[in-house]
Amino acid sequence: MPDIVRFGLVGTGRITSWVLRGARENERFVAAAVCSRSIERARLFAQSQGIPAAYDNLDEMLRDPQVDAVYIGTPNHTHHAIALKCLQAGKHVLCEKPLAANAEEAVEMVAEARRRGLILMEAMISTLNPNFLKAASFLKEIGPIRRYSATYCQYSSKYEALQRGEVAASFDPPCAGGALMDIGIYTIWPMVYLLGEPTGISGQHILTRELPGRGVTDLQGTLDFVYPGLNATVFYSKIADSFLPTEISGEGGSLVLDKIHICRQVTYFPHGTPASGRGEDSTGTDLTVPEVAQRDDYYYEFQEFISCVLSGHESRINSPDTSISVLRIMDQVRKQLKH
Ligand SMILES: NC(=O)c1ccc[n+]([C@@H]2O[C@H](COP(=O)([O-])OP(=O)(O)OC[C@H]3O[C@@H](n4cnc5c(N)ncnc54)[C@H](OP(=O)(O)O)[C@@H]3O)[C@@H](O)[C@H]2O)c1
Repeated sequence: MPDIVRFGLVGTGRITSWVLRGARENERFVAAAVCSRSIERARLFAQSQGIPAAYDNLDEMLRDPQVDAVYIGTPNHTHHAIALKCLQAGKHVLCEKPLAANAEEAVEMVAEARRRGLILMEAMISTLNPNFLKAASFLKEIGPIRRYSATYCQYSSKYEALQRGEVAASFDPPCAGGALMDIGIYTIWPMVYLLGEPTGISGQHILTRELPGRGVTDLQGTLDFVYPGLNATVFYSKIADSFLPTEISGEGGSLVLDKIHICRQVTYFPHGTPASGRGEDSTGTDLTVPEVAQRDDYYYEFQEFISCVLSGHESRINSPDTSISVLRIMDQVRKQLKH
């Protein structure tokens, strides 16, 4: 049984360079090839990253026997077609978030992977972060859970260009862009992993903008979800920052995560910790996993995916079923936007 996985990378954007740093911290990771829409960009990327093969044709890269698995780092609307091609060529797939443009596409991709006995995993960074998983392991201490409140608001570097009429894929309706798909997803994925799929959406408050000739994009939102016995609310934005932490609280205590996207610090406050301002203040118990500070943030998704490929088992954390649930929720929200 081989103990390495050789990757072909699709797309030469910033995200592919970012994930490569983390991927390479895994001894079992090999960057075997890169594919771009332009051979010049593919060669330049391959040269600068020390990757042996460069392609401008996906079918050719998929015929390369040196490639076992494909990382897809292209815009959301391309994931379905690229992933299906890879799976049909017998390659495992690690695909950027969201897994697809909608749940229907994701269902088809997951069925294809399962039919062929291949691994398909969404590169959702948040749920594989050890600090998040530490918080998850404390859920029973704070149960029954009464509130989930997650925030990820980050002013986008591409927002100013949007105001000038230049539309990046992450904002573009035809590319399945927008704040929910780009940023909001990071608040919803952990919720579904921890609490399961909600039975409904009880409130959605979304700021949108009409983009001439392209449809309506969403810029910021607040969503309330229906779960029995608890309130779940998420806040996300591409037009304003927020430094609010994420909190999961229950009758037994609270867990506070400084950031839900990539958690750097997690604190446990047992029930009885003064929260009212009366009595002694408590700093809580720091549950932060020291190793996280030493690792690249993208290390963990490759570690998980490679383990899945080598063992032949789907990820139980970033499971394809959760990818589908998350897309079902986002489909429901996006249905309300006029495209
Ligand atoms: N995990 C994270 O932290 C994180 C962060 C940012 C983005 N993302 C995800 O990464 C993906 C890419 O996002 P991005 O903002 O980097 O997108 P992007 O800059 O628009 O595109 C990334 C690369 O994909 C290729 N590409 C662009 N349009 C394409 C098309 N129509 N068909 C095929 N390939 C195309 C291009 O590479 P070539 O020119 O070489 O073909 C481009 O450089 C998205 O799914 C996004 O959600 C994840």
